[in-house]
Amino acid sequence: MENNTLKAIELATSLQELEDIRIKAFGKKGNITELFVLLKELEGDTKKIKARELNALKSQIESALATKKEILKAQELADQLKKERIDMTLFNTSSNYGSMHPVSITLEKIIDYFVAMNFSLRSGPLVEDDFHNFQALNIPEYHPARDMQDTFYFNDGKVLRTHTSPVQIRTMEQESFPIRMICPGAVFRRDYDLTHTPMFHQVEGLVVEEKGKISFSHLKFILEDFLHYMFGGDISVRFRSSFFPFTEPSAEVDISCIFCKGNGCRVCSHTGWLEVLGCGIVDRNVFAAVHYENVSGYAFGMGVERFAMLIHAVSDLRSFFESDLRILEQFS
Ligand code: PHE
Repeated sequence: MENNTLKAIELATSLQELEDIRIKAFGKKGNITELFVLLKELEGDTKKIKARELNALKSQIESALATKKEILKAQELADQLKKERIDMTLFNTSSNYGSMHPVSITLEKIIDYFVAMNFSLRSGPLVEDDFHNFQALNIPEYHPARDMQDTFYFNDGKVLRTHTSPVQIRTMEQESFPIRMICPGAVFRRDYDLTHTPMFHQVEGLVVEEKGKISFSHLKFILEDFLHYMFGGDISVRFRSSFFPFTEPSAEVDISCIFCKGNGCRVCSHTGWLEVLGCGIVDRNVFAAVHYENVSGYAFGMGVERFAMLIHAVSDLRSFFESDLRILEQFS
């Protein structure tokens, strides 16, 4: 019998089988357990001898079990690793190529135009100080654009830039005119709904030349041309007078609705027009903040996502940033 248990241990091929053998030997009704019970009925030397034999057998089986357990454990791990092995070098014929994000596609299209028009690219920090994000742009302390609802503030008074306009300021601080630049980049505002996300992208443009060399008609020409490039030659463009602290005069630019051709629909709120840009002649206070004298200039700014939404007829801006491949793949 004792040989049987040891033999069985030797032949066991799984941890489960080994456990069954252990229970068969040492369980409540196990062979070895029962031998120990029988031992109680013996007496004297016979009992002593039998007891010694039995204890020896017990520890022999126990150590056989322990040894075998280690072996089987290692084996099962090895088997599992073998089963789960992935060949990283295998060519996966089912995989798709990635594609450009719709916001990147739109951004590149915008940049392409302005680079072709001899604008150069500038960038600046995402975390801005009060001076560059507000003050130098003629946004005094009480201006509503500073409202806590719009701006992400840090404890030290710095902000996540709310527009790309601070890059204008930084560029003028570092370079002398003439300037002909665009600055694409991420901006941040505390907003979240169908047409707003807390992070979005703007492209801002700035042209500065000697006083008298820049007029509103230069601005009008470049933006009309740009909007026809973006939306096609048959759209209409209109300039609507507006207000920005950093430009005077200022205008918002509308295009005729590309969905209803100006007849009125839900997207254009039945006005026939879609607002796409802000622009104006740079306010003299902005030039004063960077110590520019005898200059004139124009600036404009646009939201990249707004263009992407219009071009791809997307009604919920948030879907651009939810990383749902089923949506993003449609733009490839
Ligand atoms: N900075 C403005 C905004 O974020 C856009 C703008 C830029 C308007 C330049 C006019 C001139 O809304």
